[in-house]
Amino acid sequence: MVLAATGDRLPQVVYWGAPLPMGADLDTLHAAHAIDVTGGMLDANPDLSLCPEAVRSFPGQPGLILRDGDGTPLLPKFCYAGEDTSDGLSLTYADDAAGLTLTFLLRPDPSTRIITAKTVLTATRPVHLHWLAAPVLPAPQQSAEMIDVSGRWCGEFQLNRTAWSPGIRTRENRTGRTGHEHFPGLLIPCFGATNTQGEAYGFHYGWSGGHRMVAEELPDGRRQVQWGHVGRSEQSPGTRFESATLYATYSQTGLNGCATSFQRHVRDRIVTWPKPDTPRPVHYNCWEAVYFDHKLPVLTDIATRAAELGAERFVLDDGWFGMRDDDTRSLSDWTVDARKYPDGLGPLIDHVHAQGMTFGIWFEPEMINPDSDIHRAHPDWALGSEDQTLGRQQKALNMALPEVRDFIYDRMAAILSAHDVDYIKWDHNRVLPMPDADQTRGSYALIDRLRADFPGVEIESCASGGGRIDFGILGRTQRVWLSDSNDALERLRIQHDAALFLPLAVTGSHVGPRRCHTSGRTIDISMRAWVAAQRHMGFEMDPRELTDHEAAVLTEVTAWWKRNRDWMHHADIHLLDSPDPAVLAEQQQARDGSRFVVFAGKAATSAQISPRTLRFTSLEPDATYRVELINRDTAPGLSRGTPILKTGPIEVSGAWLMHQGVTLPWHFPETMWVLEGTRL
Ligand code: DGJ
Repeated sequence: MVLAATGDRLPQVVYWGAPLPMGADLDTLHAAHAIDVTGGMLDANPDLSLCPEAVRSFPGQPGLILRDGDGTPLLPKFCYAGEDTSDGLSLTYADDAAGLTLTFLLRPDPSTRIITAKTVLTATRPVHLHWLAAPVLPAPQQSAEMIDVSGRWCGEFQLNRTAWSPGIRTRENRTGRTGHEHFPGLLIPCFGATNTQGEAYGFHYGWSGGHRMVAEELPDGRRQVQWGHVGRSEQSPGTRFESATLYATYSQTGLNGCATSFQRHVRDRIVTWPKPDTPRPVHYNCWEAVYFDHKLPVLTDIATRAAELGAERFVLDDGWFGMRDDDTRSLSDWTVDARKYPDGLGPLIDHVHAQGMTFGIWFEPEMINPDSDIHRAHPDWALGSEDQTLGRQQKALNMALPEVRDFIYDRMAAILSAHDVDYIKWDHNRVLPMPDADQTRGSYALIDRLRADFPGVEIESCASGGGRIDFGILGRTQRVWLSDSNDALERLRIQHDAALFLPLAVTGSHVGPRRCHTSGRTIDISMRAWVAAQRHMGFEMDPRELTDHEAAVLTEVTAWWKRNRDWMHHADIHLLDSPDPAVLAEQQQARDGSRFVVFAGKAATSAQISPRTLRFTSLEPDATYRVELINRDTAPGLSRGTPILKTGPIEVSGAWLMHQGVTLPWHFPETMWVLEGTRL
């Protein structure tokens, strides 16, 4: 990336792409970047700078919109004021007359190939901020479309392809949380790019309070991408504002180059692991087994069975506190329900520990039910108007109030101090009445305080499944509950597309009940187990429903996952270019390239009768790989031929695997082929 500035003006990105030879003449690059002027244009084209300025007649969306304390619009004109290169690049610009400074912080990470970028605005007196973009980056001309991400409850990470055209594509999330609806990510494939090849650009805005993305093609053809907090979410005038961190990356290896950069950056730079050398434990979560019906003998029986299947952490979900017999009451009454746990949580936790598992517990800290003791005592702690429409019968607490944060902290700390708890499932089941950056900052402050005082406790970010997934929350948590859908077919698709941004290490995936509770679909245990084994594995069914066969399959796949999790934790997930739309396939590859596993999930019946060849990616062409279809014994009787992978492993070159690809045996829909590869 090359930044250049004319005189003392704001800098603009004049090159962003494949590495250029060292020693390039940057003055020439700057001069050669300028576009021509013709009829109907200004006499010089305003810069598409890191913060395009309205006052300089920029012909598109400006990077900053603010008003003075009395409401007068401010149109600052920034001039160079200083720089600091001690930690990345910090460039400061000032408008002395307006009393404003703007600082851009850019930091490249050569190992993950991510550039982080942030904008900070300071004012000498309080001003109203409407819009502050993180450093504004250009989008490539060699691209016909952009891919952004929408979703819904039980249907997260849906990719949308939109053609570039003159004007703006805006994504604005006004729900006050990251949201299922608008994951803050964008991929821009260049002409011909696929998962595995071509050039692509990737963006992610790391903020949990709702974002705004502007992808604009200017009348002159230039393209810009802006990211910031959702518009007007700064409720009060202030003297200092900052954008969240924007994560940007460029790839020469298709969308996978962006995906693996984001995966590496999340796992190795953003998440902090309380016990980095401890493998990710297999989870058991009791939600879909018992819901609110907590009975100690049942839970202890379930815990025993879960441990026998291979679980290593037992997570007690919603229903243990207050009078929480359903979702209409008790949120914020964070004391143990003595009707369900007459001797407290101790007996259950002791039993869980006796099975060799650690113990985790569910909270929904930012929420309150009107039917709760705390709401009766402090109705003013709720965010929004008294007559607001409830969400799941609950309101959000006003996290900007220190007394609210102290209260929640005290209740949570009491549980964490009294018991040996190593995990919190942190839920957030409703949208906010209005977007409010103070709310997000309040939530972050509470999490930060708890983490400082209980550094050994991991946190899972859940919001009705994947409603709060972003790199801001992942700086404070270690796992995301990707979706409330434990339907293995839906999960296969959701986690496939989520891998464009998320690594295995943080992506929870559970084996659900035989008949899925959110889709009504019945799926074979083998498919359910292998889909969960693609990410951070866990179980969420009632283990008492398992037949001996189901228990055996689950135990076997769980044991496979444990044998492989150490290297898979650090692996890159590459999405394969499957020529069959019924097959979703990925290749998880060790960072040193020495081994990989390919999961080829057949989500539906194929149009053609015989499986199409599946090409692998990112291998050494000249190396020889041993490839084995490890679950070939599950080929059904209707697979009557002898494709070679059905008979045993093969040894072939990386070039062959990448340019011809493997021919898999015929299989039923809703099944997964699993291939292990080793570089010889
Ligand atoms: C929503 C979550 O996504 C579920 O997994 C579960 O924890 C429930 N909330 C509990 O109320």
